[in-house]
Amino acid sequence: MNSPKTFHVKSFGCQMNVYDGARMAELLEAEGMSAASDGGTADLVVLNTCHIREKAAEKVYSNIGRLKREDGTRPMIAVAGCVAQAEGAEIQRRARSVDIVVGPQAYHRLPALIGDAAAGRPALDTDMPIQSKFGALPARRRQGPSAFLTVQEGCDKFCTYCVVPYTRGAEISRPWSAIVDEARALVDMGAREITLLGQNVNAWTGEDDKGRMQGLDGLIRALDALPGLARIRYTTSHPNDMTEGLIRAHAEVEKLMPFLHLPVQSGSDRILKAMNRSHSAASYMAVIDRVRAARPNIALSGDFIVGFPGETDAEFEQTLEIVTAVNYAQAYSFKYSPRPGTPAAEMSEQIAPEVMDERLQRLQALLTRQTLSFNQTSVGGRTSVLLERKGKRPGQLIGKSPWLQSVHLETGAAIGDLIEVEIVSAGSNSLGGAHVMEQAA
Ligand code: SAH
Ligand code: SF4
Ligand code: F3S
Repeated sequence: MNSPKTFHVKSFGCQMNVYDGARMAELLEAEGMSAASDGGTADLVVLNTCHIREKAAEKVYSNIGRLKREDGTRPMIAVAGCVAQAEGAEIQRRARSVDIVVGPQAYHRLPALIGDAAAGRPALDTDMPIQSKFGALPARRRQGPSAFLTVQEGCDKFCTYCVVPYTRGAEISRPWSAIVDEARALVDMGAREITLLGQNVNAWTGEDDKGRMQGLDGLIRALDALPGLARIRYTTSHPNDMTEGLIRAHAEVEKLMPFLHLPVQSGSDRILKAMNRSHSAASYMAVIDRVRAARPNIALSGDFIVGFPGETDAEFEQTLEIVTAVNYAQAYSFKYSPRPGTPAAEMSEQIAPEVMDERLQRLQALLTRQTLSFNQTSVGGRTSVLLERKGKRPGQLIGKSPWLQSVHLETGAAIGDLIEVEIVSAGSNSLGGAHVMEQAA
């Protein structure tokens, strides 16, 4: 196979996975390759996969099948991401057209793997090297107005349903200076908003430039001082790592957006225990109360799993109760998916698919009502919107409110502008707005 000159990276997973996709693209560009507009024409296609639920993991195989072209040729195919880590060489046994398998902690070695594949040598790397990949990656490139920045990787929490501790490895925090430098570079290239990422981002710790130990709040305060940066976000957080300092940052740091994604998973203490979440429904609610006391207008978001092994009707009702008690602005909910190698997959009392379907429908109906009513409270008010991309209609742009709502509007302003918008309509997925022009004095 020839050495590829063009590439296409397709990411299937969480924000960390999307960040990795961007870094792989930067790496391939630094190697002299150029981005193809889609997988149909690229010499190399990188499928950056997710292993979190079975459906996500199986997507990779249907995608590999679709890469075969009408003339019988195919691109060089690399499977990266968490499926690569979890399944390793098994992928090449199941799908012979896969040339490269590379895990989420090894993708800085992609250029060498491409060389191996081009020379017909087996190319697989799922190491988790002690020396982190970050030092080996090239400088950031332009990312647009809203950029992701991974500050923490891996997870030591071992929730019994979850593959992340296995696919991403142990928790590590990137060093302070590497993060601040990367943030500065992103801002210099036009980022107005940075979202700090980690599987457990609020567990980030490190020494600052004066040798003092800091938590995520310290890092947020350092980024707050970057001129040109307008908004800071972070995700995903664990309830047990919501420190007093981080909660205070929500009250004090103006650039920190009033939004918190704080997954609870279930409202039942028995299920939370079986999940090894190490928080209770009551301790989660106590965190929510403290956060709301610090920042009354904060929008809350969460993740939920229905049908965890052994979940009774009454325990599911407790999930509806906690949702009602919190009143979320937005949320993600999933049917439990047994994952190979996780303790919950071995538990007896797996829940029947029809029961899961029914529970998910009821939960999602409640969550959608909450999102809609949250969005409706925005109507008639004014808010700042960071314009991020073009909409479907001519002249239409789409941006985000401070509360992470998508706002659609017609405006002559440019992508990257932070503008004042009057909200005129609301649905459960987005808001409609009108650009408020500055009044001449
Ligand atoms: N680190 C984050 C997110 C992990 S994955 C956290 O701790 O919350 C994102 C979400 O996927 C999880 O919050 C959980 O709701 C869901 N999830 C993880 N494993 C799952 C599984 N086996 N089945 C269904 N949903 C799952
Ligand atoms: Fe998975 Fe739990 Fe770690 Fe989140 S905290 S990544 S759900 S093991
Ligand atoms: Fe998926 Fe891996 Fe993220 S399993 S959710 S891509 S950490």
